[in-house]
Amino acid sequence: MASALDNRTQSRSPSQSESDVNLSARRAEWSGRALDADTRALLARDSKAFLHQSVSTPCLNAIAKAEGIWIEDTQARRYMDFHGNNVHHIGYGHPRLKQAIAEQMDALPFAPRRFVSEPAVELAEKLGSITPGDLSKVLFATGGSDAVEIALKIARASTGRFKTISFWDAFHGAGFGASSVGGEQLFRGPAVGPLLAGAEHVAPFACYRCPYGYATGADGKPDLDICRLACANMVRYVLEREGDIAAVIAEPARATSYMPPPGFWASVRQACNDHGALLIFDEIPTGLGKTGAMFSCNHDGVVPDILVLGKSLGGGILPIAAAVCRPEFDIAGDYAFGHYTHEKNPVLARAALTTIEIVEDEGLVENAERVGAHALTRLNEMKTRHPLIGDVRGRGLLIGVELVLDRDSKEPADDAAEQIMYAALDRGLSFKTSMGNILTLTPPLVTTLEQMDQAIDILDACLQDLAAA
Ligand SMILES: Cc1ncc(COP(=O)(O)O)c(C=O)c1O
Repeated sequence: MASALDNRTQSRSPSQSESDVNLSARRAEWSGRALDADTRALLARDSKAFLHQSVSTPCLNAIAKAEGIWIEDTQARRYMDFHGNNVHHIGYGHPRLKQAIAEQMDALPFAPRRFVSEPAVELAEKLGSITPGDLSKVLFATGGSDAVEIALKIARASTGRFKTISFWDAFHGAGFGASSVGGEQLFRGPAVGPLLAGAEHVAPFACYRCPYGYATGADGKPDLDICRLACANMVRYVLEREGDIAAVIAEPARATSYMPPPGFWASVRQACNDHGALLIFDEIPTGLGKTGAMFSCNHDGVVPDILVLGKSLGGGILPIAAAVCRPEFDIAGDYAFGHYTHEKNPVLARAALTTIEIVEDEGLVENAERVGAHALTRLNEMKTRHPLIGDVRGRGLLIGVELVLDRDSKEPADDAAEQIMYAALDRGLSFKTSMGNILTLTPPLVTTLEQMDQAIDILDACLQDLAAA
């Protein structure tokens, strides 16, 4: 019987939006030459034991250690981890975090629901103090997807509406609600059937490949006098036409490292205010300093109604996520938005509190800003020498290098991007590609200038080798 998946009509693999593809010929070629018999045996057991799914199983390689910015594979080869799923802001296995978790496990390992504990309250208060504006009321979950769904429920309850506007190509998590507002075919394709009703999508800001057809200058920047923020105007247009949207939900800086054009979020914020919709920012990868500000929305001077955090909040060791909202949305005390078993787990809360303290005490937000700016300068210089680089963009340590076959046609250089990714692995640098042709660099916030230079030297050498081949 034909599977629903056979009906897909994509010209490019749906997997490419999220990551490099785990079934490609280049993957097979790399695995064939780079992995020893023991690693292959472990990968075969993984492949037998786990359900196969795009971008995760079959796996790329097996690792045995993770420390600081490094991961080490089972063949004792070390890689600078410039992917890290954006959990590793403070570096893997931070000693202060491990000690805090161990002490908390001794002091109080769990709190059954109905009982509060000091670390959970302290964390909620801390999040209220570091998030912008008057965001202060909190719920915790163990994953970003669940925290996104809490935010969607809060928006429904407080507006009495159910529809949302979000971006095509966005990822907000794998749950049904999160995949409904997500815009990646990989998570919402025909295999899983209908998603939430009322989840409207619009084209995202993506200046280098503007969905509305406007050109950018050679520096990749839009001419706002010409495009007049068509992307933001479309959000207003749909808000107006639908008339009953509960919330606009988006990442303030997109993880495929598209940065908002100046004024975009101020314009969308105003449109939400004008039409009674909430603005939800998904800062799951970007929160806690990734972009060189504590939250990415701080760059835009825009305060959302609900801000969602996850990933790095658990310090790269434990899973914890949070939705932080304005106090006036505390309106459904007789309903449960997120009654999760581990919602006030003291060990998870301690991990998050200590992670935030480490980010603050070690000046990691400032480091992300400084090292990220240096990386952009170097990558832009490389762009003058490597015609394959079509665009360099980023904020702090959320960086994208888009490869094209031709700078005029902007035809995506998918195969070259994959070749460079595997060549970089061979030289000790790990990162993922997005949309097929974007080298996506998201190093930890503890990355030093020297380490960044080392990583960029590797990329430079890989590009040179490819050009010479
Ligand atoms: C922007 C964004 N939102 C939500 C999520 C989902 O988080 P989790 O995997 O913890 O459910 C992710 C994870 O990659 C993400 O990048």
